[in-house]
Amino acid sequence: MTAPWWKGAVVYQIYPRSFCDADGDGIGDLPGVRSKLDYVSALGPDAVWLSPIHPSPNKDFGYDVSDYGDVAAEMGGMAAFDALLADMRGRGIRLILDEVLAHTSERHDWFAESLKGEEGRKNDWYVWADPKDDGGPPNNWLSVFGGPAWSYHPARRKYYFHKFLKSQPKLNWRDPAARAAALDVLRFWLKKGVDGFRLDVANSFLHDDKLRDNPPIPPNLRSAHHWAHAPNMQKRIHDSNLPENRKVLDEVRAVVEGFDERFVFGEFSEEPGLIGEFVGQTHGLQSGYTFTFLDDRSYSPAIFAAYYRFLKDRPHVWPCVTFSNHDVARTVSRFGGGKQDDALAKSALTLLMSLKGTVLMYQGEELGLGNGAIAQDEVRDPVGELYFPYSKGRDPARTPMPWVRDAAHAGFSTAKPWLPVDARHAERAANVQEGDPDSVLNFTRALIAARRGIPALVTGDIEILEASEQVLAFNRILPEQTVLCVFNLSREPATFALPRMSSVSPFEFGPGGWGFGGPGLTLKPFGAFFGQQI
Ligand code: NOJ
Repeated sequence: MTAPWWKGAVVYQIYPRSFCDADGDGIGDLPGVRSKLDYVSALGPDAVWLSPIHPSPNKDFGYDVSDYGDVAAEMGGMAAFDALLADMRGRGIRLILDEVLAHTSERHDWFAESLKGEEGRKNDWYVWADPKDDGGPPNNWLSVFGGPAWSYHPARRKYYFHKFLKSQPKLNWRDPAARAAALDVLRFWLKKGVDGFRLDVANSFLHDDKLRDNPPIPPNLRSAHHWAHAPNMQKRIHDSNLPENRKVLDEVRAVVEGFDERFVFGEFSEEPGLIGEFVGQTHGLQSGYTFTFLDDRSYSPAIFAAYYRFLKDRPHVWPCVTFSNHDVARTVSRFGGGKQDDALAKSALTLLMSLKGTVLMYQGEELGLGNGAIAQDEVRDPVGELYFPYSKGRDPARTPMPWVRDAAHAGFSTAKPWLPVDARHAERAANVQEGDPDSVLNFTRALIAARRGIPALVTGDIEILEASEQVLAFNRILPEQTVLCVFNLSREPATFALPRMSSVSPFEFGPGGWGFGGPGLTLKPFGAFFGQQI
């Protein structure tokens, strides 16, 4: 049986607001994406994941949807979507939409109707609950974006639950009609021909119907991560991450698999230990990602080894592997201890393309971009408002793509962009890197192309061999091919004892930087060795 197309595919995430602005309003749009399809094709992903494109008041930049059946006017509307889909088809690039169905915008008609509280007329499509006697919220659930996860509405004399902003009321997936409506959204876009979905907070469709408090993480067990953000001090097991959530994911998957060759993967933003419940060969979604690598700042071999050892006990999980997206600091700004150089970018890209999983890479990662600079009055992200400048939120990862070094706004737009273009990014613009054979961009193009010819890197299983302070070594294994991958993830030279040197035939992939010597293999800083086991 041949593997489905998405197994080991490379998926390129486009955050359309910041990709390319075709109509000169400072906001990226779908005609802009379409105008850059030569660039996307040359990069060589199997699919593009488009961050949300539906009409939205943009309190959370598209992750607050007010109409699931349309495309935002500022994105170019439905005609622009149809044209983009047709062009992508023509080029053999698949299209994955980002569907945000755990919550809607407060501007969605469904919420307006629910507010009326009329029996049988969407009154239970959202999670409404009575205030406590003292007027306080029904329980201790906290919003990921700060404060209680409940807001009071006088129209219903009740509180409604919102895991994120007050303007993102939680859709009540326990209500059969609401659930059916959400599934119909997927059917609508599948019928239009999209190849699949990235499902926002797929761990959060169901809430505890008894509305029990989340238990605290005991103070003596709290790490810096818990203290970084108040909601992290709770074990989020009742507001989200319920074991029954899996049944909902089964239903989602049945809808998606009712159409040929479609793919659905989830964002599992919390409780990463539950991935085995929510993803599987026969249950849950087809794949998904946790924040294990996205939150990591160490780039230490132990992090990668621990995750794949954890997955070893869950062989039914085909993961997505990702280092970067619109929610976290950019790869080279997180990994590498503050020094953002091309060697680090190339090492991380090679590791990304070598680990087991469907690869999710984020626009700009192929240019080796670090975080964009954001001043206080340029903050757009509600998370940025929370603790700025102590932490700057997500805008630094969302600044516009630099296309042409010497053009206004680096060629992203003719108007002032919604987020500023970083001058350091302009120096790394696509047109500069295209002309440089050693650039991160040309490196990434070659890497993605070469990977296609190494089946074990695409669909092979993984076996961790070593994770020392500097070196991560693993095999990628298929019945017909086993590839040994050895990475020096540090800025100092390293050595690795090759098990049986004569049984490995080295080949070129990634940054190179290895030689024979010492106990078998010497690796330069950020060097990587690949060899086929014979
Ligand atoms: C996860 C998305 O990736 C993030 O950008 C968004 O703010 C939240 N979910 C809420 O939809």
